[in-house]
Amino acid sequence: MKITYYGQSCVQIEAGGKTLLFDPFISPNPMASHIDVNSLKPDYILVSHGHGDHVADLVTIQKNSGAKVICIAEIAGWLGKQDIEAHGMNIGGGYNFDFGRVKMVNAIHSSSMPDGSYGGNPAGFVIYAEGKAIYFAGDTALTYDMKLLADDNLDWAILPIGDNYTMGADDAVKACDFINCKNVIGVHYDSFPVIKIDKDEVMEKFVKAGLNLKLPAIGESLSL
Ligand code: NI
Ligand code: MN
Repeated sequence: MKITYYGQSCVQIEAGGKTLLFDPFISPNPMASHIDVNSLKPDYILVSHGHGDHVADLVTIQKNSGAKVICIAEIAGWLGKQDIEAHGMNIGGGYNFDFGRVKMVNAIHSSSMPDGSYGGNPAGFVIYAEGKAIYFAGDTALTYDMKLLADDNLDWAILPIGDNYTMGADDAVKACDFINCKNVIGVHYDSFPVIKIDKDEVMEKFVKAGLNLKLPAIGESLSL
C-alpha cells in the first residue's frame, strides 16, 4: 500500500489495485504549486466534509478521471445536482467496494459546501484493504468516539495536527491512545497562518509518547 501527500488533508492511497484520493485541495494551496491537478486520475475520491480546503479540486478531478465519489449523503446529493455520481454513506455505515471496505465514522467539526448549502455531518473513514486498516480522521476534535476504533487493529492513522480548526498535536497524541495506533501521518497544518506548526516540537511530542509520526513533504510517497 502506498500513500502520497498532496498538502493540507489531501492524500492518495493505492490500495486493493485502486487509487483513492482523499479531500482534494491542491490548486488553491501555494505550497502545492508543483502538483499538477490534471495529472491525478483516481478511481475513487473520498470526501470527509464540505469545506473548501477539502473539496476545492473535487469537481475538476472527478470530471478528469470519472472517479466515483464516496461521501456523506448530503454531499452526494450536492454532487448529483452537478451530474456527478457519488456513493452516499452515513456515520457508522460500512460498504464493501472493489478495493476493500470503507466505514464512515464520526468527526467533531462542522460542514457546509463552498456555495453555502448544507453539507451534512463531517466524517472520517476507516479503510480496510490488503489486510490493513487505515483511519483517515478528517477534520475533527479529539473525541471519545475514537475509542470505538481501539479494537480495529489500525495500522496507520491520518490525523489533523494543526490546531485552531481541528485538534492540535497534544490532542492528536491522546487520539493515538484512544484509537490504539502508533503509526501516524500528520495532516492539516501549515497551509494557513493560524495552523502553522513547529515541526520539531510536534515531532518531539509524538516521539516522547512512543509514537511514529511521519510528516511527508508535499508530493512525497511512503509505503504503509
Ligand atoms: Ni473543515
Ligand atoms: Mn479543513
